[in-house]
Amino acid sequence: MRVTCDLSDIKKMSCDLLCVLLTKEDTAPADLDKLLKGQIAELRRRKHFQGEALERGTFVPHPPQRFARVLLVGLGRPSEVTLDRIRRAGGTAGQAAMGRVVTLWPKQLPVALDTGRAAQAFVEGFILGGYRDLRFRSESAGRQDVQQLTLLTPQERQVAKLRAGAGRGRILAELQNLCRDLSGAPGNVLTPTALAGEARKLARKHGLRISVYDRRLIERMKMGAFLAVAKGSAEPPKLIRLDYTPKGRARKRVILVGKGITFDTGGISIKPGENMFEMRQDMTGAAVVICAMAALAQLRPALAVTALIPTCENMPGSRAYKPGDVVTTSIGKTIEIINTDAEGRLLLADVLGHATKSRPDYLIDVATLTGAATVALGNAGAAILATSDILVEKFAAASATTGEKIWRLPLWEEYEQQIKSNIADMVNSGGRPAGTITAALLLKKFTGGIPWLHLDIAAVDYEYRGTEITPKGPSGFGMRTVVEALTNL
Ligand code: BES
Ligand code: MN
Ligand code: ZN
Repeated sequence: MRVTCDLSDIKKMSCDLLCVLLTKEDTAPADLDKLLKGQIAELRRRKHFQGEALERGTFVPHPPQRFARVLLVGLGRPSEVTLDRIRRAGGTAGQAAMGRVVTLWPKQLPVALDTGRAAQAFVEGFILGGYRDLRFRSESAGRQDVQQLTLLTPQERQVAKLRAGAGRGRILAELQNLCRDLSGAPGNVLTPTALAGEARKLARKHGLRISVYDRRLIERMKMGAFLAVAKGSAEPPKLIRLDYTPKGRARKRVILVGKGITFDTGGISIKPGENMFEMRQDMTGAAVVICAMAALAQLRPALAVTALIPTCENMPGSRAYKPGDVVTTSIGKTIEIINTDAEGRLLLADVLGHATKSRPDYLIDVATLTGAATVALGNAGAAILATSDILVEKFAAASATTGEKIWRLPLWEEYEQQIKSNIADMVNSGGRPAGTITAALLLKKFTGGIPWLHLDIAAVDYEYRGTEITPKGPSGFGMRTVVEALTNL
């Protein structure tokens, strides 16, 4: 979608939809109301539109104008307007929009909000709210897509800030939508090989360095746990590596790791059939990390960031790994397999362990790791677990900006005993109690003391109800927060 900012007159803008944001106390801009002969004031008077938070009012202008329709979106009480509300207002507009859209930017925002950030939030919401997935429908019936969004301001001194914010918003939202596409892609389409192909396309487009390691090279890196998971499938595993390097000196070196299980049957410890199809999304951590890298390549912070993405299927079969097996990881630690459905931590352990060898400043992993994350927090937010208070602070601040809720769970050593093994260094499942924590405690053993944060997105990778900015379906949760946190490191 093209996103532009303009200093122009509504009288001269022809478009399919004119969107106007109004708080409870705003009256419509005088020039617009004059053009519409008091139509907006009339709607207000009759209480058809009162500017309540995310209220929507739509009408055809009378007398006819160069804009075919008008959409009013409420912002509520001025003192209660937040970035999140502006993002949701953007989503409300994005869901109703088609063709060419012009948004009249408010003359005055509630004081505390930065114009650039507000424009970013609005554009993010607009693009996220309008997301639809028609890839797997044979007929693409339905509404026309949005081709262009223009933010219109009467104030010259706003334009530069609007433009910068809108540009950032477009980059992030379009990549989050790509993340949704990847996340929701069926397992037969998005195989590990295909995921590597998608990463390659993005890398080429945005100038990231990429290498894709095949089974032989993964063997050479001695990733016995990752290879064990991959064994049951005819689809070959891949380890994808992406590098972003800044122009000047890098302030910090960061390694991002994303879980890329393109389908998780549970393996020999097979999952129940009901809802198993959802496990095509078990590579959302990989999608988040790949899309975050593409965003960094465009936003260009002074950091050196490497992404490592192990990807394979978890299948049962005569070659599959089994409960009772013992595997040896990339750093030599051994794991006794208790449950082949606890596969994500095995790939991550190998890759985190491998990542510590280059001694980065920070390690971050993103994974649809545990159903227990839903038991702990429900579906409203994701769990973070970390050995680095700095990373936690950065993620908490980022989350407040992006609106993606996260909550820290502890890594108390009392839970360690749940993953003790009789015959190996650890078992791969700590059972039901504190399942999100015991999974993270296993990962921690592979972080070699490097400041680390783990983001478990199992509870939030799918939106079941649908919100203003997230239609029912894969959410792409986490991408914006990871990028925001990193750029503030
Ligand atoms: N991919 C799942 C976790 C998951 C569950 C993600 C539901 C999204 C929705 C993971 O591989 C898994 O199966 N975890 C097990 C761990 C258990 C065997 C210790 C789980 O959560 O049940
Ligand atoms: Mn599993
Ligand atoms: Zn899984």
